Amino acid sequence: MTNPGTPPAPRVILITGASSGIGAATARLLAGSARLVLVARRREQLAEVVRGVVESGGEAHGIVADLAEVEVPIKVVDQAVERFGTIDALVNNAGLFATAAIGAIASDQLDLMWRLNVRAPLLLTQAALPHLRGRQGGTIVNVSSHAATEAFTGCGAYCASKAALEAWSRVLREELRGTNVRVGIVAPGATDTAAWPATTSAAMRARMCRPDDVAQAIRWVLDAPATASIDRLVVMPPGGAL
Ligand SMILES: NC(=O)c1ccc[n+]([C@@H]2O[C@H](COP(=O)([O-])OP(=O)(O)OC[C@H]3O[C@@H](n4cnc5c(N)ncnc54)[C@H](OP(=O)(O)O)[C@@H]3O)[C@@H](O)[C@H]2O)c1
Repeated sequence: MTNPGTPPAPRVILITGASSGIGAATARLLAGSARLVLVARRREQLAEVVRGVVESGGEAHGIVADLAEVEVPIKVVDQAVERFGTIDALVNNAGLFATAAIGAIASDQLDLMWRLNVRAPLLLTQAALPHLRGRQGGTIVNVSSHAATEAFTGCGAYCASKAALEAWSRVLREELRGTNVRVGIVAPGATDTAAWPATTSAAMRARMCRPDDVAQAIRWVLDAPATASIDRLVVMPPGGAL
């Protein structure tokens, strides 16, 4: 039982794809204001992000997991609940950006983007929902892309996967009306992360958003007052799409 004078424990936020880019920036930004469960495959990179959060006075638990495997999302949620007792918010950020013209997409790439960009966030959401529903106000943030609604040549499978992510997010939002769980979409435009090939020029990278810009948007969705649901937030480079 909590003493009347004891401040409530910070929120538990599960962030996928936290070993680099937007996910790592989000973890750093939320360090200190939440208890974080950080998920990715690369053990060392993930451990470094966890270390950074802890060194800045925050609390973080790393889970090394391949979310493209069908049985993994539920195990990740179980481990998070085992560690912190509940989940208040889920940031579905892990994603794969692979390019090929529609006529040349390899079926294994198509399959992997479907499993990681569409199925994994849905399975994580399913597993987390009973916990989110039990909280004062749960939030799901799905990191989509400007590509969900635009036609970028060479990105057909990726565009389709993000459009599918947004489609089920909208349905879920309707299914959860009247509950205390909100569903927000953050749709970034080009952002300077490892998702872009190493050959991407410095001049092109300079025109992109920074990972922290998108992290700020994610935090905004998470921190919106109970009287507001930020349904879809688009974060674009000021110069427009690349
Ligand atoms: N950068 C952009 O221009 C841009 C634009 C729009 C949307 N987005 C979206 O933003 C999100 C984050 O991407 P980013 O740009 O920050 O790229 P990133 O630095 O490559 O981050 C991707 C993250 O996903 C994780 N991940 C990849 N495959 C995984 C798997 N099978 N299981 C678990 N984790 C996995 C990676 O960690 P491990 O490799 O350690 O597993 C990494 O932490 C993605 O959903 C992406 O589609 C990015």
